[in-house]
Amino acid sequence: GAALDLAGRRVVISAGGTREPLDPVRFLGNRSSGKQGVAIAEAARARGADVVLVAANLEIAEPAGCDIRHVSTALELRDAMQVAARDADVVVMAAAVADYRPAAVSQGKIKKDAGDGGLTLELVRNPDILAELGRAPHDGTLLVGFAAETEPDPERLLELARAKREAKRADLLVVNRVGWSEGFAADENRVSVIGDDGRVVTELHGSKVSVAQGILDVVASVLPAAER
Ligand code: PMT
Repeated sequence: GAALDLAGRRVVISAGGTREPLDPVRFLGNRSSGKQGVAIAEAARARGADVVLVAANLEIAEPAGCDIRHVSTALELRDAMQVAARDADVVVMAAAVADYRPAAVSQGKIKKDAGDGGLTLELVRNPDILAELGRAPHDGTLLVGFAAETEPDPERLLELARAKREAKRADLLVVNRVGWSEGFAADENRVSVIGDDGRVVTELHGSKVSVAQGILDVVASVLPAAER
């Protein structure tokens, strides 16, 4: 893409994985490292954007030149996204968000019972942050969602992604297959970007940095021309 094609744009990106506490020392989490979201933040910054990075438990170094807002749980991420999205031109939800959290957080460390019984955790639904942003009025804000799917069949993977884009009302949806060694935590990624007509706009494969550039090429091409 052109060198400064995002100059003056406000771009908000979530990255990393949420953690839902069970007790003072334990949480339910996922293997997102933050690499893909941080790569998008860095690339957007390099292309001239003002970047807010909502960072959930990153396992990598924070990028320079971004306004970084630290969060841990899905509810914290939701609050930070709602504030940051207000004046955003682009919102990218690259974070892996827990769909459920423990119904109650124990104030003491959960004890192992005498005997050899198991332990059942009761979980409640977290809000769907992207879907909430999609439902709220957001004129002038381009919403970019991700879909992380383990579906092995490429056609069915796209079907799931199209359904997810519609359900969450994202303008663009980036689908990646994920697995034990794909997507999460890897240095490379393979994605398809789906547009608001459900068509595949582009397919990208390579380092998460190059995938980030390709996603921003699409973003820049669909943003309305800047006011002068
Ligand atoms: O961080 P890395 O190690 O580099 O890995 C990158 C990644 C695989 C995590 C990333 O590329 C990715 O796919 N991020 C989205 C992960 C995810 O939560 O996908 P999902 O299919 O469960 O959710 C779909 C979309 O809804 C996502 O944009 C997600 O941010 C959003 N969501 C999901 C659940 C929820 N409660 N609220 C949300 O907003």
